[in-house]
Amino acid sequence: MAENTATARYQQVADKYADLIRNGTFEPGSRVPSLRSISRQMSVSMTTAMEAYRVLEERDLIAARPKSGLYVRCCGILPPAPAKTSGSTEAVSLEIGSLVLGMMRDAKAGHLVPFGAAVPNPTFLPTEALNRVLAREVRSKPETSQAYDSVQGFEPLREQLARRALNAGSALSPNEIITTNGAHQAVYLSLSAVTKPGDTVVVEKPTYVGLLQVLEALQLRALEVATDPEEGLCLECLDEAIQRERIAACVLVPSFGNPLGHNMPTEKRADLVEMLAAAEVPAIEDDVYGELYFDRDRPRTLKSFDNNGLVLLCSSFSKTLAPGYRVGWVAPGRFLKAVEHQKYITSVATPTPTQMAVAAYLKGGAYDRHLRRLRSTYCGLVARMSASVAEYFPSGTRITRPRGGHVLWVEMPDGVDSMAMYQLAIQRGISFAPGPMFSASREFSNFMRLNCAVPWSDAVDAAIRTLGDLAREMS
Ligand SMILES: Cc1ncc(COP(=O)(O)O)c(C=O)c1O
Repeated sequence: MAENTATARYQQVADKYADLIRNGTFEPGSRVPSLRSISRQMSVSMTTAMEAYRVLEERDLIAARPKSGLYVRCCGILPPAPAKTSGSTEAVSLEIGSLVLGMMRDAKAGHLVPFGAAVPNPTFLPTEALNRVLAREVRSKPETSQAYDSVQGFEPLREQLARRALNAGSALSPNEIITTNGAHQAVYLSLSAVTKPGDTVVVEKPTYVGLLQVLEALQLRALEVATDPEEGLCLECLDEAIQRERIAACVLVPSFGNPLGHNMPTEKRADLVEMLAAAEVPAIEDDVYGELYFDRDRPRTLKSFDNNGLVLLCSSFSKTLAPGYRVGWVAPGRFLKAVEHQKYITSVATPTPTQMAVAAYLKGGAYDRHLRRLRSTYCGLVARMSASVAEYFPSGTRITRPRGGHVLWVEMPDGVDSMAMYQLAIQRGISFAPGPMFSASREFSNFMRLNCAVPWSDAVDAAIRTLGDLAREMS
């Protein structure tokens, strides 16, 4: 009897706090009261308060952020459906290309609410500080700044990158790194170095749209492998593909992939690297979101498990510092010379001034402080946006629960055509990324990707409501 009463009590406490979360008293992304204050406010024991929080965690209403306590997630929306199948397709056609270019144009159109391109709002970035560093560097080293840089890239920057690689589990030397024009060029150079036209390349499904464009440009076939919204690439499906045909490379974004926001578990990363090494398949790892984790630890890169030089690690500062600086890099393992050669053919060198600025900024020590703020901002915005989608979108909508990055992948009810919805949304002053852009086989017609790296305001909330209304009308 006593036990039943106690059970009822923690359920009551959980229900009460669930209501407070749903009615917005505790905003998504905010910290929930400490156990001590719950125990005081509700006149319950600490054990009961703890049990109530366990229930709220089970209901996905709150989640623990190591070292910083519990915080509010979003309200009562369906989690993403697990990945279903894999299948192969031919290289994508140019139709996606024009859609992407249109979206990039829309992203620059100041009048649109920018949920489309996965670009951080400038107010989140240390633009003034970085530009000051740039001005100081070019003033103090005019000759260096105007000269061609070496093909491999600016050495002080490579030194800083090698130091930071330790945080992700890799001991790299500056000589193992090549700087690039963003992560996009890093992936392009890597694919150019390890494939030839007509080869088959494994990609995640859904995947980063820019990657599909690169495959198309290099005349490669995309073999799409099912990718789970929580755990990433399906290893059984990959194994099956490897047994079936010759795979020239596997390109993936294991840390907070785009558009799913998945985070591949550590053991699975190790298994993946081992599986690819056994088949001698190079892995091109795109880690642009790796620094944007919401939990305590940075995910380890695939590169950190690589004993064979078969992982080509690509990344950039586009999501964290300055997309327009176009500073990225690749650590290509045993393909160093081939990638360097490709870089020389396509661009000779990376612009020197922006490399100088990023190197000096990193050396100055402000980057980690900035990252801590940025992670917390993105975590809050992802939660806030999730709550609005939950409130305004039709029932049956599913949404991812990313633990890093700044994009959400939304599955709307069957019947919603996100391409048609995109045109209607643009007329109403809102951009987003329609689902079919993210797969070579043009699936995901009722999905959309939302960029959450937008300062929250009533206008942003109203834009989500408008999208929800459109989805409801079409479903
Ligand atoms: C997974 C992924 N890779 C690469 C890029 C492009 O990065 P960059 O601007 O550094 O070329 C993006 C941008 O959206 C991305 O999402």
